[in-house]
Amino acid sequence: MPATTFNSKLPSTATSIFSVMSALAREHQAINLSQGFPNYDPPAALRALVSEHMEKGHNQYAPMPGLPQLREVLASKHLESSGLAVNPGTQITVTSGATEALYVAITTVVRPGDEVILLEPAYDSYSTVVELCGGTVVPYQLKYPDYSVDWAEFAEHITDKTRLIIINNPHNPTGTIWSKSDWEQLEQLVQDRDLYVISDEVYEQLVYDGQRHYSLLDFPKLFQRGFATYSFGKTFHSTGWKVGYCIAPGYLTSEFRKIHQFTVFSVNTPVQFALADYLQDPETYGGLSSFYQAKRDYLLNQLAGCALRPVPCAGTYFQLYDYSAISKDSDVDFARWLTKEIGVAVIPVSAFRSVESDERVVRICFAKTEEVLAAAGSTLREKLPA
Ligand SMILES: Cc1ncc(COP(=O)(O)O)c(C=O)c1O
Repeated sequence: MPATTFNSKLPSTATSIFSVMSALAREHQAINLSQGFPNYDPPAALRALVSEHMEKGHNQYAPMPGLPQLREVLASKHLESSGLAVNPGTQITVTSGATEALYVAITTVVRPGDEVILLEPAYDSYSTVVELCGGTVVPYQLKYPDYSVDWAEFAEHITDKTRLIIINNPHNPTGTIWSKSDWEQLEQLVQDRDLYVISDEVYEQLVYDGQRHYSLLDFPKLFQRGFATYSFGKTFHSTGWKVGYCIAPGYLTSEFRKIHQFTVFSVNTPVQFALADYLQDPETYGGLSSFYQAKRDYLLNQLAGCALRPVPCAGTYFQLYDYSAISKDSDVDFARWLTKEIGVAVIPVSAFRSVESDERVVRICFAKTEEVLAAAGSTLREKLPA
């Protein structure tokens, strides 16, 4: 008889809050501003290229590290943005979304007993992979309301067991971005230590108000001990295609690829061909930040007359709102109530934390058409007036 109970490797991991809130939104026919994906399609030219490459017969396994022409065009892009000459042969690996890149990078580095510092609120996939590798998460709480890092306090979290620090810039869920000085402080803290950095930069193109995105690749000493992860899903409104990539120095990439090849082996071939063609035009990324900045501003205008208070957002397609003027409930209870009773689904920020917090904030995704944002705005202004 097979056992009917199982000793879980992840006893505290439940169904992700994104699935839970989306299911609740469907059940109550709420406007779904919870899960982070666009409700519009990737650019028509990119879709046409995917079809074209399927018809041309590019439908079998791609090379394990990724299509060479895609890696080459990515190297040119990063040379342009960071001035770093990344070697496409030995330093770039195409992955099944950033999720796989993160899984493989964490698995490459973390051994049982290692400590991994996460800056909370933190994207929810990191801690689960750390746990699977036998590592321990050491959470550092970003400082509300600007979600900044107090570097002296952060330094106290580093011990002899710290093997990895995972950062996310621009940051989901808070919409903050790091200044040059933040990166320099990190660079100084990790020097002379045997530890690594993963920089999750899936929202690198979504930075607003004329500010600049600083990447791990802008800091060569940090890059020597780091992995930077990216997602075409976020950049080209194609989250369902699950294609991303990871850049790391050669000695880390060769270890990364040992795991990548037995995780997925290789990634969607026609999409890689299409992206390689599409990215030949250096203007491809142009206009993305103004496109999303306009959406952020549209949302802010739509919700201006309601009792939710925006927290400044400098990047990503997420906007936080403080609801303390409406309710003292926990953010999970408030998000459920907002979905069921008011008809707008959002994400409680506590889902991104391992410890309790008394902040009263929820996350709204503004990667939605104006029609959807306007419907949410009129509902919230009517039912929760300022
Ligand atoms: C911060 C962050 N990292 C990684 C991912 C996963 O990216 P992908 O869909 O390419 O796997 C997401 C998706 O929401 C994210 O917000």
